[in-house]
Amino acid sequence: MSNLAVIGTQWGDEGKGKVVDLLTDRADMVVRFHGGNNAGHTLVVGDSTYALHLVPSGILHGDKISVIATGVVVDPGVLIGEIKDLTARGVEISPKNLKISGKAHAILPYHKRLDEARESKAGDAKIGTTGRGIGPAYEDKASRVGLRLSDLLDLNLFESKVKKALEEKNCLFENLYGQKPLKTADIMAEARDWAAFLSPFITDTFEIIQKAAKENKNILFEGAQGVQLDIDHGTYPFVTSSNPTAGSVSVGSGLAPNKIDKVAGLVKAYTSRVGEGPFPTELLDDTGTRIREIGREFGTTTGRPRRCGWLDAVVVRTAVDLCGIDSLAITKLDVLRGLDEIKMATSYRLDGQELFHVPGVLSDFSRVEPVYETFKGFSQDISSARTMDQLPPEAKTFLNRLSETVGARVGLVSVGPERGQTIILDEFFK
Ligand code: GDP
Ligand code: IMO
Ligand code: MG
Repeated sequence: MSNLAVIGTQWGDEGKGKVVDLLTDRADMVVRFHGGNNAGHTLVVGDSTYALHLVPSGILHGDKISVIATGVVVDPGVLIGEIKDLTARGVEISPKNLKISGKAHAILPYHKRLDEARESKAGDAKIGTTGRGIGPAYEDKASRVGLRLSDLLDLNLFESKVKKALEEKNCLFENLYGQKPLKTADIMAEARDWAAFLSPFITDTFEIIQKAAKENKNILFEGAQGVQLDIDHGTYPFVTSSNPTAGSVSVGSGLAPNKIDKVAGLVKAYTSRVGEGPFPTELLDDTGTRIREIGREFGTTTGRPRRCGWLDAVVVRTAVDLCGIDSLAITKLDVLRGLDEIKMATSYRLDGQELFHVPGVLSDFSRVEPVYETFKGFSQDISSARTMDQLPPEAKTFLNRLSETVGARVGLVSVGPERGQTIILDEFFK
């Protein structure tokens, strides 16, 4: 391998966790570089299933280094809970194999409360966030009033910053949202536990990543969310508050762009979306319900049913071009088994024009009409296929057309949730 970024090309939940866990075998280090515990990455190993939110998906491979880098927002209580749960299940986690950036910003109780209060006040105009405080935490970072994890190393300083922050947040809670104010003392009681637990893990991840790169170690960058949830390039305002696009690998980790060798685009063989916002290929009929049930499309983080629809190659093409995707990793192809026909949108029609990328204006995107190509379905169980030859010709035709229309080769095909249920084609996945 070499340094490889794994990016979700759609609206998240493409199977990034499975693929990162699988590829960690070939890597030395796995780095989360943006997002927070809005992410839910599922790993299936034998009879065990692990749902990870903040801990990188390489953690099951005890000898590899897992890094939560600068661009991530960390809810300290959630992270501690996740580390404790994993440890109780026999996963080895210590400051030796988990490194957390002191520059990463903390999600504090007022961020979560603000996220929930805004969503409930917005009513029908809500974004459908995960309610984890992600937006408010990134807002404070951009406003330069956020608290970094390194602030936990000096609790007096931490306390004065919390006090200052609450002057403004409590004004919103009391006067705008009709809620009781939060108390500095309550937050500090938790903060003492966070500091005691997390201090040994907090470090300068820039130095660690730089050293690994200079020693020619293989670094795997684990994206969260997906390109259409990108705050700059996605379907704003129905997006998250960070950048899931490949450009953010450098910003969030501190490794220069020319040190990132390859970008893999994760593509679910159909499309899903959680939360509000336009979704041109959404299926509101029995086929959508069938895909949701067979694909078990219920959120890893919130348990919400995911909206499901046909594969949208316009969305994938946009991701390929935005992120410089070298190779596609197609997941959940097995879920399409048994459908008489399978569709793929290869362009959109809008006001008499044909579009090949997702339009930048949301009101345009909500009016586009997908132009579909229809493929014959397949009935064969493909979950034990390990080479392309073992896939039915109908499935291969579908994959070849996707590759051709978006302009990137297919490098990996996942045919089930387990590590081994994978066809690996591209050399750099090997
Ligand atoms: P992520 O957020 O991109 O890591 O994806 P999630 O973990 O939220 O959702 C993907 C779900 O699909 C998880 O439950 C995985 O175990 C499961 N999964 C991943 N790849 C496959 C596959 O090829 N086939 C099937 N049937 N399930 C898969
Ligand atoms: P993974 O990494 C799917 C969605 C939320 C909502 C919007 C904003 O598992 O693919 P936020 O809480 O981030 O402010 O919510 O983004 N969202 C995700 N959807 N997968 C995710 O992560 C998501 N993370 C956020 O549902 O629509
Ligand atoms: Mg997920």
